Amino acid sequence: MAKFLLSCIIAICCASLSIAMDSASNSYSQPTTSEILVGKGPGWECKYTTMPPYMYNCGCTRISELRLADVNFFDNTVTDLWVPCNAKLPSYNASVFDGLPSFIRQIKIWDCFEEEVGKEVLYGLINIDSLDLVNMLSLFVNRVLDHWITEPLAPVRLDPELFASVPQLRKLNLRWLFMDTFPEALYHKINGQAPLQNMLELDLSWNRIPDVKSEYFSNMIKLNVLDISFNHIHNLSDSLLMLRNLQRLHIKGNHIESLDGSPFKTLRELSTLVLSQMRPIINITLPGHVGHKYPQRGALRFIHPSSFVGLWNLKELQIDINSIELIQNGTFDPLIKLEQLNLSVGLISTIEEDGFRGLQSLSSLDLSYNNLSCIGNSVFENLPALLKLNLEGNYPREPL
Ligand SMILES: *[C@@H]1O[C@H](CO)[C@@H](O)[C@H](O)[C@H]1NC(C)=O
Ligand SMILES: *[C@@H]1O[C@H](CO)[C@@H](O)[C@H](O)[C@H]1NC(C)=O
Ligand SMILES: *[C@@H]1O[C@H](CO)[C@@H](O)[C@H](O)[C@H]1NC(C)=O
Ligand SMILES: *[C@@H]1O[C@H](CO)[C@@H](O)[C@H](O)[C@H]1NC(C)=O
Ligand SMILES: *[C@@H]1O[C@H](CO)[C@@H](O)[C@H](O)[C@H]1NC(C)=O
Ligand SMILES: *[C@@H]1O[C@H](CO)[C@@H](O)[C@H](O)[C@H]1NC(C)=O
Repeated sequence: MAKFLLSCIIAICCASLSIAMDSASNSYSQPTTSEILVGKGPGWECKYTTMPPYMYNCGCTRISELRLADVNFFDNTVTDLWVPCNAKLPSYNASVFDGLPSFIRQIKIWDCFEEEVGKEVLYGLINIDSLDLVNMLSLFVNRVLDHWITEPLAPVRLDPELFASVPQLRKLNLRWLFMDTFPEALYHKINGQAPLQNMLELDLSWNRIPDVKSEYFSNMIKLNVLDISFNHIHNLSDSLLMLRNLQRLHIKGNHIESLDGSPFKTLRELSTLVLSQMRPIINITLPGHVGHKYPQRGALRFIHPSSFVGLWNLKELQIDINSIELIQNGTFDPLIKLEQLNLSVGLISTIEEDGFRGLQSLSSLDLSYNNLSCIGNSVFENLPALLKLNLEGNYPREPL
């Protein structure tokens, strides 16, 4: 499977490169190649790509075979290194990147580890800003989705001290590792020192993390972007309150049925919140959306007047594809800067008169595919800035 995916990706990259080449060669100057070999050995090969995205592409059969010390990193303006593996190693615990030139700032390690990533793997990376350690290729999300739901792979375990050697890291992507607990490596203190205190962006989506707790994030107070979509989280409680600098929060596809308390009350900087399609419970297909299937409606049923307290700067709120039936008075009261609200594909049958009170900046409201048969006179009077309203596909048609 991994082998097949990898060869597809490479084929796609090469195809687009050669198309660009052909059109470029019309105005002939000198034959160019899109890739220059900069190192090669048994089981690995590194190329420098001379067209966007400029990078060093160091593919290998297994990560243990890669010899980056033998690569001629000649262009110090190219700061990206991509390491796709053809086969995953069950466990590895030796330095892969020791001696890498200091101008490499972004590293993508794809499909290299199956069960365990030892702490020595990241030794020597004192200059990188951004790291991807992912196991599935996002281009194939839809094909992998069924597999992800029905046949989870074994979780990849990260050594609790894995990130101790990269305290400067600002961006980390840990998608598709099937992790079934929140990785200790993200918060485990060593000699009283917490890891990753400079993190700005963290992507933990497409794992199987069952919970989030406030202590998991206490070291990441600078975080701007958190993506914990498609995990198994049931309850947010107070777990995110440390993240006072968060600007974008993606929680789509978890198991949250009710937004109890005020889980975002300290997130004053948040501008985008995505709560779409919580744990899928039934299959639905939207009429008129041929080829666009919403496989299952989400489980989020209850939002309350306290749910969104604190979100004074929120601009975009997505709660589409869920099972909300009722919008109570004052639910959106704090959201005075909100511009876009998506409540499409739900079971809303009642919007109380003051349900949209407070939304003085709202310009786009999507209520399509709900169960609305009538809406009170003054509901929309609370929306002085509204430009776009979608009420398509409501009652008396059967709700989806
Ligand atoms: C990796 O090696 C170090 C010693 O260099 C050891 O402390 C650590 O436990 C090892 N980790 C794994 C996951 O084997
Ligand atoms: C969520 O977690 C909090 C604290 O852990 C607990 O008090 C509350 O009952 C939980 N709510 C649900 C719906 O599980
Ligand atoms: C959803 O639909 C698929 C086929 O399209 C079916 O295999 C699956 O059992 C359905 N799931 C539920 C929860 O109905
Ligand atoms: C709202 O969400 C639905 C379902 O995901 C999507 O089809 C629609 O385009 C969204 N509406 C807007 C205005 O973005
Ligand atoms: C909602 O607000 C309207 C207008 O202020 C009021 O008439 C109505 O009784 C309220 N509904 C509930 C359930 O409190
Ligand atoms: C839709 O709303 C009607 C009342 O207007 C209610 O009787 C019906 O059960 C609702 N349908 C669903 C699927 O919730």
